[in-house]
Amino acid sequence: MVGRIAVNAEYLKEIEKARRDLRHLISTKNCAAILLRLAWHDAGTYDAKTKTGGPNGSIRHEQEQSHSANNGLKIAIELLEGIKAKHPKITYADLYQLGGVVAVEVSGGPTIDFVPGREDCIDCTGCTEDGRLPDAKQGVAHIKAVFYRMGLSDKDIVALSGGHTLGKAHADRSGFEGAWTKDPAKFDNTYFVYDKLSVLHINEICIHSICIIHDESNFCIHSICIIHDEYYDVSRELLKGNSEELLQLPTDKALLEDPEFRRYVELYAKDEDAFFADYAVSHKKLSELGFNPSPLGSKGAVKNCTVLAQGAVGVAVAAAVVIFSYFYEVHRRVK
Ligand code: HEM
Repeated sequence: MVGRIAVNAEYLKEIEKARRDLRHLISTKNCAAILLRLAWHDAGTYDAKTKTGGPNGSIRHEQEQSHSANNGLKIAIELLEGIKAKHPKITYADLYQLGGVVAVEVSGGPTIDFVPGREDCIDCTGCTEDGRLPDAKQGVAHIKAVFYRMGLSDKDIVALSGGHTLGKAHADRSGFEGAWTKDPAKFDNTYFVYDKLSVLHINEICIHSICIIHDESNFCIHSICIIHDEYYDVSRELLKGNSEELLQLPTDKALLEDPEFRRYVELYAKDEDAFFADYAVSHKKLSELGFNPSPLGSKGAVKNCTVLAQGAVGVAVAAAVVIFSYFYEVHRRVK
């Protein structure tokens, strides 16, 4: 169940402290990618129709953790236990989502607005059945079905898939091996644009050659090329064919097959700012599936509380002045 918890000034302070601890954890344990995957897997079980699943900390329960899509995430859950112990007020649900937000930021990605207040599912009543997260071996129809179930759009699907700019697949966890980008510690748009250097010299033509072996009739039987011309396949932006060292899951490749998906792949390949802006919006949506932030969850709300408190003090002082003046006047007349 995802609902409301008491988000007051003290809770917000703890969130800021946990944020600092997360930055430290990520820099010492190099765990940004797995924290992002944990946040996504806790949230990605959401079903908008039945309002079940979503970012409720259920992934920490063995029953959900043991789903095959979650292989390896125990590492991230255990890494976050230290921060939970230091800040016990913060719910697991908030901590896991905060971990995802901080992971993206410290890896060079966009700043994602974080609103606290997610409630934990206690004894796995909020756990979902296996099979809600996407299967990497499938294609367009499957991806759409899974993300539409969460209430997300085609744009969200492509932007969020850009999360594969971080980290790698591990054969012992998913059966796949390798990273999606050349620098898997950096959050950028290279998931959509393969490093062009790796695709240079794909097509070479010789524009000047010299003969090094002639036969008796002076016929050239072996020549070497001394000037090449290179066709750079500059259109080979993201996902165009397999790269030898970089990974493409069937679900990554599917982003090129659907025209609506492809439109965003091409945009993000060209324009990193557009990717960052859309990613930040989609990530926030994902992290808030089924969660209706209480007005106190935002800093503005705390500010409002302060304003209200100041207002109340003002009213009390004014009332005291009026009462005092009244008694003073009565006292003066009696005299
Ligand atoms: C169609 C949707 C998706 C599929 C099928 C999928 C599948 C996978 C698979 C198979 C792995 C490899 C796990 C391993 O072997 O360690 C992986 C890793 C990862 N995924 Fe996804 N994923 C999807 C969407 C997302 C989204 C939406 C995000 C985040 C916004 C994300 C973030 C990551 C990250 C950061 C890793 C690397 C983890 C690490 O390095 O330990 N994925 N994903």
